[in-house]
Amino acid sequence: MTTDILCLVLAAGKGTRMRSDRPKVMHPIAGWPMLAHVLAAADRLQPVARAVVVGPGMEAVSKAAAPWTTAIQHRQAGTADAVNAARDVWAGFSGTVLVIYGDTPLLTTDTLRAMVEAIRSSTGPALAVLGFRPADPTGYGRLIEDPAGRLTAIVEHADADEAQRQIGLCNAGMMAFDGQRLPDLIDAIGNDNAKREFYLTDAVAVARSQGHAAVAVEGSVDELMGINTRAELAAAEAAMQRRLRDRAMAEGVTLVDPATVYFAADTVIGRDVTIAPHVVFGPDVTVEDEVDIQSFCHITGAVVRRGAIVGPFARLRPGADIGPEAHIGNFVEVKNTTIGAGSKANHLSYLGDARIGARANIGAGTITCNYDGFLKYLTEIGDEAFIGSNTSLVAPVKVGDRANTGAGSVITQAVADDALAVERSQQTERAGWAKAFRARKAAEKAERARDKT
Ligand code: UD1
Ligand code: MG
Repeated sequence: MTTDILCLVLAAGKGTRMRSDRPKVMHPIAGWPMLAHVLAAADRLQPVARAVVVGPGMEAVSKAAAPWTTAIQHRQAGTADAVNAARDVWAGFSGTVLVIYGDTPLLTTDTLRAMVEAIRSSTGPALAVLGFRPADPTGYGRLIEDPAGRLTAIVEHADADEAQRQIGLCNAGMMAFDGQRLPDLIDAIGNDNAKREFYLTDAVAVARSQGHAAVAVEGSVDELMGINTRAELAAAEAAMQRRLRDRAMAEGVTLVDPATVYFAADTVIGRDVTIAPHVVFGPDVTVEDEVDIQSFCHITGAVVRRGAIVGPFARLRPGADIGPEAHIGNFVEVKNTTIGAGSKANHLSYLGDARIGARANIGAGTITCNYDGFLKYLTEIGDEAFIGSNTSLVAPVKVGDRANTGAGSVITQAVADDALAVERSQQTERAGWAKAFRARKAAEKAERARDKT
C-alpha cells in the first residue's frame, strides 16, 4: 500500500515571523533541523520520488535535505506556486502525491499513512486534507464543510469572516493528491485573496468545481502544530522532548525526573540505563545497556558502552568512546578519545585525541595537551597505566602498559612499559624555617600596630 508515493516538502517560505536570518526549517528541534524530522517521517513510507522546495539562496536547506532532490521556487508566491515549482518532479506521475509543509516537525509516519489510505479509498477523492483542532486556531486555514459533512473549501485565516473564524477544525498543512488530478488542480488555482498568493488550500474548492471530492482526515493536535514563531518553536521542542522521554521509558530506561532530561531525535539508549536529573544529549549518542548516567552531564557524539558510569558533571564530546564498566567522573571532558574497559578518569581532567587502554587510572587533573595552536596530536596510554594527579601529557606522546607517571609531571617523551616517569624538580627542606618565619612576621605586625597609635 505504500508503493507509488511521491513526497514534496515545502520549505521555500521566508519564515518572516521567526525574525531570523536562518531559514525557518533549519531551526533545530531535539538537535535536528525541523526539516530533518519531516523528511525522516516521510522516508519511512519509502516514496519512489522525493523533493524539497526551497527558495533561492537556500543552499543550506538543500544540503540538509540531501539525498532528497531540491526544486527552487524563485519568488514566494504561495504554497500552490511552491508545488508548481516542483512540477518537473511530479509531472506524469499517477500515484499518490503527498505534500507536506516543512514547518510541521512533529508529524508522524502513521498520520502520513492514514492520508495515503484516505486518498486511495473507494470513493476516489482528488485530494485528502489533514485537519486538526488546535486550542487556538488563529492563523490556521479553516476546513469548511457542507451540511452533509463534505469538505467544500479551506478558507485562510486572513480571508475568513467572523463566522468562519469560529470553526475549530483547521488545516494542518498536509495534503495527499491523486497524481492524475494534480495538474488540473494546480493550474486552476488563482491568487484572488488577502495575501495575493496562490494557496494550495484552494485545491479543495477547485476539486469540487471540477466535479471531484476532497476528504478530510483528522489528526491529533500534539503532532500537527505549525512553527511560525520562536514561541511555537519552544512549544514544539517541549512536545518533542515529551515524546522522546516517553519512548525511552517505554523501552526500559529509568528517568528519575523525566522533565529534566533532554534527548536528541537520534539518541539511542539501551535497557536498564538509569539517567539522573538534569542530563542533556546532543545528536549522535549511543548508550548501551546498564549504563548509569549521573546528574548534570552533557553528552554529544559519544558512545557509552555497557555498564559504564558517567558523571555527575561529565562532558562527553564527539568521538568519545567510553568502554565497558569505565568510569568518567566529575568535571571530566572527553573528546575524540577511546577509553578502554574498566578504566577510570574520575576527577577534573581533559582527555582529547587519546587512546587509553583497559583498567588504566587517570589521576585527578590529568590534561592531554593535544593542540599546539595549529594541529592536534595523539596521546596513547597503555593497559593498567597509572597517570599521577596533575600530569600534563604533551602530545604526541605514549605511556606504556602498566607504566606510572609521577604527580605533577609534564610528560613529553615516551614512557616504557612498567616504568615510572617523573618530571619535576628535587624537593628541598629547611628545618625550622616555617616556625622562624611565623615569629618574624608576628613581630612585624605588632610593630606596625604600635606605630599607628
Ligand atoms: C499554511 C496553510 C494553512 C494551514 C497552515 C498549517 C496555505 C495557504 N495555508 O499556512 O491553511 O493551516 O499552513 O501550518 O497553505 N512555503 C513555500 N513557498 C511559499 C509559501 C510557503 O515553500 O511561497 C512553505 C513554507 O516554507 C512552509 C509551508 O510552505 O513550510 C507553509 O507556509 P507558511 O507560510 O508557514 O503557511 P501558513 O501561514 O502557516
Ligand atoms: Mg506555517
